Amino acid sequence: MAQVWARLDDVCVRYGPKIVMQNLSLDIVEGAITCIIGLSGAGKSTILRLLNGLKKPDTGRVFVHGEDITTMRESELIDLRRTIGFAFQFSALFDSLSIGENVALPLREHTKKPAAEIKKIVSETLESVGLAHVEDRYPAELSGGMVKRAGFARAVVTNPQAVLYDEPTTGLDPIITHVLTDTIVKLRRRLNGTAVVVSHDLDSIYMMADYIAMLFEGAIVAYGTVDEIRRSPNPIVQQFLQGSEVGPIPI
Ligand SMILES: Nc1ncnc2c1ncn2[C@@H]1O[C@H](COP(=O)(O)OP(=O)(O)O)[C@@H](O)[C@H]1O
Ligand SMILES: [Mg+2]
Repeated sequence: MAQVWARLDDVCVRYGPKIVMQNLSLDIVEGAITCIIGLSGAGKSTILRLLNGLKKPDTGRVFVHGEDITTMRESELIDLRRTIGFAFQFSALFDSLSIGENVALPLREHTKKPAAEIKKIVSETLESVGLAHVEDRYPAELSGGMVKRAGFARAVVTNPQAVLYDEPTTGLDPIITHVLTDTIVKLRRRLNGTAVVVSHDLDSIYMMADYIAMLFEGAIVAYGTVDEIRRSPNPIVQQFLQGSEVGPIPI
């Protein structure tokens, strides 16, 4: 049996009157890459925020390593978030800091490591995402794909048990997409941990996913391996995968 890294258990989320998730349950398998797919506004980013406790569900529970995080105090949540890397959709690097300083931030904030050791870890981490020797450059001096990889480096620099990626390849060309996808796979192996990737990019998902979960109208409508999802008889899944305007998904 696969181990579970995190579990959403019967979760409901609403923003004001709008119900975003209704009785949603999902297990995230440890040591695997799980891709979350679904339409814009389906609640994919919200799932990532539930998993690191940035968002509390209105009802239901969220477990990480078997521990209910919905009852945790903020101080415990801060400790939890140190073990979970987050690669933001828009990288969220500080423009006024060099790449090296950006990547070093989580180590400076959360550890007491001496500066020389931080410098060494930062350069090793940048090298692991294919960005050797860019420590002294600034975000504005790098290409979009390089900034993304620097964001990945910052997400993994503390050796987290899991990394959450929000739309890591959206809006980037196929070559950069391929490089970023490959980087996610390599980082997961290097950390020997879990990855959850929100993505629209089917080629990228087919390349990296161990499991795919499809979110639709507040629930998980399909879950399985790449082969299982591609062969799914569910018309919602097939319409999404084929990008067709004909089918049960209202457009
Ligand atoms: N802070 C918020 N306040 C109000 N509505 C929100 C907020 N965050 C998300 N939503 C709404 O919740 C739904 C799901 O959002 P999100 O998880 O960002 O979807 P996705 O990442 O799949 O595009 C969307 O309809 C969005 O407008
Ligand atoms: Mg989103």
